[in-house]
Amino acid sequence: MYKINWWKELSWTVKIGGSKNAVLPIIAAALLIKWKVVLTNVPEIGDVFTFLEIIEWVWVKAKFENHRLELDCIELKETDFDLEKMKKIRVSILLLAPLLDRLWKISIPTPGWCNLWKRPIDDHIKWLENIWYKAKTNFESIDLKWKTKSWDLELNWGFWVTVTENLLVANVLRKGKTTIKLSAIEPHVINLIDFLRKAWANISIRYDHTIIVEWVEELIWDFEFEVISDYIQSGSYMVMWALSAKDFIIIENARVQDLFFYIQKLRDAWVKLEILENDTVKVYKSDNLKPVNIQTNVFPGFPTDLQSPFAVLMTQAEGVSKIHEVLFEWRLGWLIELEKMWLEMRITNPHEAEITGKAHLVWNTVTSWDLRAGCAVVIAWLLAKGETNVTNIAYIKRGYEDFVKNLQNLGADIEEID
Ligand code: EPU
Repeated sequence: MYKINWWKELSWTVKIGGSKNAVLPIIAAALLIKWKVVLTNVPEIGDVFTFLEIIEWVWVKAKFENHRLELDCIELKETDFDLEKMKKIRVSILLLAPLLDRLWKISIPTPGWCNLWKRPIDDHIKWLENIWYKAKTNFESIDLKWKTKSWDLELNWGFWVTVTENLLVANVLRKGKTTIKLSAIEPHVINLIDFLRKAWANISIRYDHTIIVEWVEELIWDFEFEVISDYIQSGSYMVMWALSAKDFIIIENARVQDLFFYIQKLRDAWVKLEILENDTVKVYKSDNLKPVNIQTNVFPGFPTDLQSPFAVLMTQAEGVSKIHEVLFEWRLGWLIELEKMWLEMRITNPHEAEITGKAHLVWNTVTSWDLRAGCAVVIAWLLAKGETNVTNIAYIKRGYEDFVKNLQNLGADIEEID
């Protein structure tokens, strides 16, 4: 639980660390490589620690210090995974492809649903079954045995991030050419492709979301690879500072090029920000905000993971803003936490909500519904300016490195208590 007392207006500089959604698939892909792999700019967050514990079961040796991760995946051994532990982290589904390649069979738990509501895995299974012959799935687990088809395949996939990542990793060492149509091209997918290319994978991307993977016999490694910084954190902090900065705040490693559409929406809402050199952004405290309608979309559209911080921004705009959450059903449910803080809002259907501002948010005990909504309620607290508690913070710690420390450094009186 976070206990939050008060804040001075925030000031200073924040440097964005490595991306959770880039590093996890890269760690999974590293299991394909029978060399020592070194990654830098690895975030020290809950999901990375959990994922490392999981891969240690197959005898991967991991050394993780100062954001540098050394993985020795030279000799993997079969294991019985702790399915309960794996169930906690949805990206364990990304182990399917590399472990099948190395160990020839794997059983992993069927991931559950969470507060983002329905998160099926049918498409992972459907397309992986196109590559491998045998899959046995039931309510509890997914069992796959390795025997790949060795001819050219065309997979018409539909933009989901981790499905694209699983298909990429499943095909780099498969004999034959794979054409993955309608792939996701989020920055973290591109970072995974860059990683695989550095290991000599043969992957090309076409302008129309088509990825072509051609067989190579082996992946090799003798470099370090730097994980990209986290554009979702950067976008979250932009909102936080626009609402709470003393004067302005500087964000380094901001991934401006990945936030093109998002920054446009911030400007439509009259957030004052300047894009400086070297991927740095200066965000000014912004008053007189205007209401804006947003619709989440696949990259390069408005990211679903930034819907919740942006909603908090809209509480301070004079008038009605509409949010259309396209990707997830019921990812707007967390807004009831803001209602507890006296926001006037309506969830009109599982994909749409309206926010009426300008709201005078009042402190209350609120909870994190998921990682991003957890960050959003803390931003809301900065506005409520009272003593409050935020529960269920494990979500925030899964993905935001040094969250409390960053806020403390910037002037907030926030502490983590049992
Ligand atoms: N979907 C299916 N069938 C599938 C897989 C997905 O119908 O087999 C649908 C889901 O129902 C949902 C959409 O596809 O409507 C997104 O699916 P999913 O939850 O599987 O997304 P993901 O690929 O697992 C990644 C990010 C999420 C981010 C989404 C959308 C990672 C590790 N996670 O999830 O990030 O919200 O893409 O961009 O990359 C977060 O970081 O907080 C987070 C949730």
